[in-house]
Amino acid sequence: CREIAPLTLEINELKKEKGAVILAHSYVEPEIVYGVADFAGDSYMLSLKAKESGAKSIVFSGVVFMAETAKILSPDSQVVVPDRASGCSLADSLTGEQLRELKKAYPDAAVVCYINSTAEVKAECDVCVTSSNVYKIVASLPQKQVLFVPDRLMAENIRVEMKKLGIDKEIVSSDGTCIVHDNFDPETIAEARSKFPGLKVVSHPECTLNITEKSDYVGSTGGMMQYVKATEAPYFMMLTECGLVERIEVEAPEKRFISGCKLCPYMKMNSLEKIRDVLVAPRPEQVIELDEDLRQKALYSIDRMFEIAE
Ligand code: 13P
Ligand code: SF4
Repeated sequence: CREIAPLTLEINELKKEKGAVILAHSYVEPEIVYGVADFAGDSYMLSLKAKESGAKSIVFSGVVFMAETAKILSPDSQVVVPDRASGCSLADSLTGEQLRELKKAYPDAAVVCYINSTAEVKAECDVCVTSSNVYKIVASLPQKQVLFVPDRLMAENIRVEMKKLGIDKEIVSSDGTCIVHDNFDPETIAEARSKFPGLKVVSHPECTLNITEKSDYVGSTGGMMQYVKATEAPYFMMLTECGLVERIEVEAPEKRFISGCKLCPYMKMNSLEKIRDVLVAPRPEQVIELDEDLRQKALYSIDRMFEIAE
């Protein structure tokens, strides 16, 4: 506490001095979420906040694709990241060039990109989605065939969901997966259910089908948090990144959790020290720069998401 407090105060002073806001994903450390962030949430809400911020500078405490999205939506703000190495196994799995090649094989498909993708990939898509609106948006598309990138496991979840909704879609995808959500073991669910009667299992649509199909609730980080807060159950098992569990432990301390979450090494690259340093003087690689033509194309797919999701 003694080490965190002066840094927190220093960052909050620097924010005022520099006209900066700090946007944080719920997976980053609680001292960032509760000590210095102006807003913390899921990818969809963070995009909305970036669009509306009007700030001189946005410090994005999450991963690089989220900061790129903020820059696409808020081009007049300087957008900086605490650590340029904070990638994402999904966003890093597909380049714009690879998507251009893939599109040639599916000329009639609607091209849908998950927000966990680079600006280059977003610029090649018809519409962007987040985990909070993916089913609604895919269901609304007129095309039967959908090329969904870059998450193969989310594509599997979309296939199942469309079938449940009675919507005839052919979902094809590229081969990316999230290194965190691809690694949960379905056997732990059966074991935990037998030990803890009444347990509710919560997971993210980046998880494998053998996890999501055994879950009581599947949704975005924002959706999972709302579900746990609103649900009466003796225990919860969260098959997602541990930062979300820590957030709920702060905001709903009466909830009890069975261990099961995992750490995202990229999200955990964020720290108060790095946030302080980037506020004092960002290094060139910490500043997100986008070609204007590319930004406009990527913006089109995000704006379409806002139109359909609202
Ligand atoms: P959310 O959009 O649900 O916040 O997910 C982002 C993410 O990276 C999950 O791994
Ligand atoms: Fe990417 Fe997975 Fe980390 Fe989310 S949890 S940022 S999808 S690697």
